[in-house]
Amino acid sequence: MMAKHIAIYPGTFDPITKGHLDVIERSLKLFDTLIVAVAADTSKTTLFTVEERVAMIREVTMRYKNVKVEGFKGILINYVKKKKAFVILRGLRVMSDFEYEFQMALTNRKLAPGIETVFMMTAESYAPISSRFIKEIARLGGDMNSFVTPNVVKRFKKKFSPQK
Ligand code: COA
Repeated sequence: MMAKHIAIYPGTFDPITKGHLDVIERSLKLFDTLIVAVAADTSKTTLFTVEERVAMIREVTMRYKNVKVEGFKGILINYVKKKKAFVILRGLRVMSDFEYEFQMALTNRKLAPGIETVFMMTAESYAPISSRFIKEIARLGGDMNSFVTPNVVKRFKKKFSPQK
């Protein structure tokens, strides 16, 4: 019974954005526990290590007692089962997310028919945000404050400053 109210929010989170955070906050109205699952095995080349990505999410979700953050390896479905959950949460921002999300949800459903993917719409002010663009802005020294939280800005500065 309890497992009904656990949702897994998977992603690369390279880094967590204000848009992701918006989805996390909204989801807490629906689920008792949210596990933010940070993929170690992703097809993307990441700027931040999985440990750094987990740490950044912990920093911004610390105030929510019912949010847990973990890294995971391998297939998402196996991780979801291990956690005894059966809901995968994903955010939708724009129409172009749909096809990719649809394919991923159907693939996961084929792999594990009992597990449902639930989609939440991101607040429209966060719809254009994507980690790839944020990384580009950071690399070129632009202002990231509307897209990410101050702890993430600090991490970027550390990454891109040659001294430290
Ligand atoms: N606000 C702002 N940006 C958002 C967002 C939101 N609410 N939701 C997603 N995004 C952005 C991300 O920043 C990211 O941007 P980028 O492509 O520029 O980096 C993009 O949208 C999607 O990223 P994310 O939500 O992190 O998902 P992902 O596609 O990187 O994650 C996994 C995919 C990790 C869930 C998937 O690869 C996986 O399950 N891997 C494990 C292996 C597996 O099971 N594979 C089979 C899957 S069928």
